[in-house]
Amino acid sequence: MKTLTLTRQELNRGSLILVNERYPLPESVAPERLTPFFGSGVLLERRTALVLENLFTALGCGASLISVSGYRTLEEQKQIYASSLAENGEAFTRKYVALPDCSEHQTGLAIDLALNREPVDFIRPCFPDEGICARFREKMISYGFIQRYPEGKENITGIAAEPWHFRYVGLPHAAIMQQHGFCLEEYIDYLHLFPADGRHLEIRIQNKNFEIFYQKTNESDGSVTLSLPSSLPFQVSGTNTGSCVVTLWR
Ligand code: DAL
Ligand code: ZN
Repeated sequence: MKTLTLTRQELNRGSLILVNERYPLPESVAPERLTPFFGSGVLLERRTALVLENLFTALGCGASLISVSGYRTLEEQKQIYASSLAENGEAFTRKYVALPDCSEHQTGLAIDLALNREPVDFIRPCFPDEGICARFREKMISYGFIQRYPEGKENITGIAAEPWHFRYVGLPHAAIMQQHGFCLEEYIDYLHLFPADGRHLEIRIQNKNFEIFYQKTNESDGSVTLSLPSSLPFQVSGTNTGSCVVTLWR
């Protein structure tokens, strides 16, 4: 076994970071962690961009789908919120636009996609459940993407169903969420059933065995000290809810 200590800052990132009205963005993303998606003006967190580019290439959908909005700064989210309030009113805006600092677009892990067909609505882009959009949905899970705001989960996410908004959570997490029908809030809650010092979640996804558990962060400084098997590949992600999640490839 080896011991690994991660600081609060290191745990303020990772593909399982939850950002919503209850759990605002813990800190803004460093510019070097972002990259243009397919060389466009849309920025994404590096791994998210790379995996999404691979998914687009596998689907050959570069000309049929357009990226409407990826990473947003706090200022951009403020401006989008204010202009939607002015144009669409409060009820609509609260349903479709996250409050500044409560938008996962500010993490670089989320992207709004649209069918490449005029006119493109910036707040509610068209992403129908047919054709290339349906094929994207079918394949995205195996690349670690989820639809972040599903229908029927509005009272948990606080946001109306958004068929165009995709979030990178990585594998095996996207697949487990799909198996259980969990939105991200529910999945983070579920993982709390598998503490570091208790029974871990052991699961086989896409012919690979995974072991997953969570550990609470230290209340005083937000750090965590983990005991991990020395020989296994692993990933640690913060959750922004006072814990981190460890994923081991067995
Ligand atoms: N449309 C999503 C909720 C956002 O503004 O982050
Ligand atoms: Zn979005």
